Amino acid sequence: MPQAETMVQERDLRPPVEADPAFLADVIDGLSQRKKAIPARWFYDRRGSELFEEITVLPEYYPTRTESGLLAAHSLDVGRIAGPGRAVVEFGSGSSVKTPLLLTHVDASAYVPIDISGDFLREAAAGLSGRFPDLSVLPVEANFMQPVALPDEIADLPKLGFFPGSTIGNLVPRSGVNLLRDMIETMGIGAMLLIGMDRVKDTDILTRAYDDSAGVTAAFNLNLLQRINRELDGDIPLDAFKHRAIWNDTWSRIEMHLAATRDVSFMIAGRHFEMGADETIHTENSHKYTPRSARQLLAAGGWTPLREWSDDKDMFSLILAEARPEPTAP
Ligand code: TRP
Repeated sequence: MPQAETMVQERDLRPPVEADPAFLADVIDGLSQRKKAIPARWFYDRRGSELFEEITVLPEYYPTRTESGLLAAHSLDVGRIAGPGRAVVEFGSGSSVKTPLLLTHVDASAYVPIDISGDFLREAAAGLSGRFPDLSVLPVEANFMQPVALPDEIADLPKLGFFPGSTIGNLVPRSGVNLLRDMIETMGIGAMLLIGMDRVKDTDILTRAYDDSAGVTAAFNLNLLQRINRELDGDIPLDAFKHRAIWNDTWSRIEMHLAATRDVSFMIAGRHFEMGADETIHTENSHKYTPRSARQLLAAGGWTPLREWSDDKDMFSLILAEARPEPTAP
């Protein structure tokens, strides 16, 4: 059968798909647990990043527009309290869409966007340089979940950290506190931090923000399974999974899961997995804060809140905090 031989040969000649070993390890580990979970960072392939941008403009997704409104209304105040000449350091800058709202009113001496995605970072940095030609823009390609070495040029400048989007809420408290402490290691005592933190509110409003009527958040969540199939040689049947967003009142967070709609088995990179109907893969947390719990998390991470702003419906908050020397007593 010469035809079949040709086909086999063609298949063998195809270059192997480059699988990221860290992605493979996280997926295999995560699906081998009794409670299955995959770290949220793997959402953000190209399609995932596009879908995420779509989420931020959904009618049900209030955080982005509420936070942008707060930045537009209060960054003049932030500038007054922080004073001129600080280097603004943004953690996980992404497309830097909210940054101009801050830089317009804060008299910054430099802008240092930190992001793990180099392409995204350089594009955003170029865009901001165009808009603020007198500002020195110094992008750093790094994982901000560890202390980051900042450029020498800003070593002696006072710092203003910027961490919008309630991204802190995507971390469990232990990791959030570690990150806040790492930020002090990165920026030094005396630094300030402007952080966006989403508020506890009506459960329906919260769940709808993570399960929109157009199904964009569902597509975002399910894209993770497509990415596994594509990049890790998987055969997960997508029609056997449904997006699920639930409020976990014990931990004050929205959880996103991929729930099996029936008993299902599949292969990933030569390994076999089975899930029962209604079993889930936990893919994201989004913690929500009261004014008190927000302050306590910041304080646990070494940051003293100076000022807070919220919208008239108390949907979202912006907090300006300062890293003060450790108190000696009590
Ligand atoms: N930090 C934001 C939030 O928790 C953005 C975000 C992260 C998000 N992962 C998400 C939004 C998944 C929707 C779905 O709201």
